[in-house]
Amino acid sequence: MNLTKIDIASLKYQSGFGNRFESEAVDGALPVGRNSPQRASFGLYAELLSGAAFTAPRDHNLRTWMYRKRPSAMHGAFQRIDDGQWQSAPLSRVEVPANRLRWSPWTMPESPTDFVQGIATVAGNGDVGAQSGSVIHVYRANRSMGRRYAVNSDGEMLIVPQSGALLAHTELGVLHVSPGEILLLPRGLRWKIELCDATAYGYICENYGAPFRLPELGPIGSNGLANARDFLAPVAACEADAGPVHIVNKFMGHLWEVGQPHSPLDVVAWHGNLVPMKYDLAHFMAVGSISFDHPDPSIYTVLTSGTDTPGVANCDFVIFPPRWLVAEDTFRPPWFHRNLMSELMGLVKGVYDAKAEGFVPGGISLHNCMLPHGPDAATFEHASNAELAPHRLSDTLAFMFESRHVFRPTLAALAASNLQLDYDSVWDGFRPGEGLSDEALLLCPDT
Ligand SMILES: [Fe+2]
Repeated sequence: MNLTKIDIASLKYQSGFGNRFESEAVDGALPVGRNSPQRASFGLYAELLSGAAFTAPRDHNLRTWMYRKRPSAMHGAFQRIDDGQWQSAPLSRVEVPANRLRWSPWTMPESPTDFVQGIATVAGNGDVGAQSGSVIHVYRANRSMGRRYAVNSDGEMLIVPQSGALLAHTELGVLHVSPGEILLLPRGLRWKIELCDATAYGYICENYGAPFRLPELGPIGSNGLANARDFLAPVAACEADAGPVHIVNKFMGHLWEVGQPHSPLDVVAWHGNLVPMKYDLAHFMAVGSISFDHPDPSIYTVLTSGTDTPGVANCDFVIFPPRWLVAEDTFRPPWFHRNLMSELMGLVKGVYDAKAEGFVPGGISLHNCMLPHGPDAATFEHASNAELAPHRLSDTLAFMFESRHVFRPTLAALAASNLQLDYDSVWDGFRPGEGLSDEALLLCPDT
């Protein structure tokens, strides 16, 4: 599986979210004092990758200069290839069920399948051409990409491994990502994914909208949630040429491929703030109630992709990590709720505190706009009667992609054998308020 001879322990990173990094694999490859000199050092080619409108405010402007052995433009025409199970929004106009949906994990493929081939789209929203919305996939792979590389022109990829570590080779360097960590691959960056274990399974948010960034902290102050310094970018690592390769380009919802005689990861030096990053979710500083009541899940936001409306997300990435629950006189799991925002959840490991069973690692639940949900009957019973001593939720990692746009499931996901047809039944068995007196029942009768 591990095709390259990279010593994972010796991989180097640079820390900080949004920093303007610089890195060179060869001393002197990075120009000093200018970005595009008449002649770059060593006959390298200067190339700009911009991830924002040129005129975006400085705080939102993303770009990286690369100094490479060959310009990335040096290739022939892309040809259409099969999209496999990778779909894009707007998804085909299947009616969105007015139902809560939940899936058990998807099965692993039996035939050789690399990371790109193993992407199966579950649900999505927005429009790839309008650069809004996001699409959620699962990936299941049992082989490395080898001499196949990929670039996503449609969106940024937020990858959440559930099992199997990944080695992400990118134009800007190599990152090793294990379950419990996340990987951000910027739109337009070229990469390939190598497996470190026999198989790999996880989730992807393909974000068409504004790039993910850290949320504002407001009254929390200058510390807390995901700290910028815990995000890690790679250092320059120009890949050796080893013969012809193929590059898959995800463009306007479809896959295109071109062959070329050399690796696209031939960047010798680079500087900029549009970079791939990884982040260990164990470093997330969870903030919660130390008095009473269940705070909104926005308190667990790791990264946010905003819209033109302040505070209304194209997509938020929210986690429910191990943490202490200490609130007094409080139903500690989420109460019942109906939200404007739509929620798609996954589970990396352990148990999610609002569900007793059925929501298992590798599965997905989808609670779209205004659909009532909350604890199942067993969880309600337990949490209503639990002794409210300080309690630690351990060995658990659930997450949520939350969006202002309703998630439309794919036809394939609705027809999948792992869709749990009896999901609604988890909310069976709630008895009407038993404490109501006969007098009160006259005012609000059961029948
Ligand atoms: Fe919810």
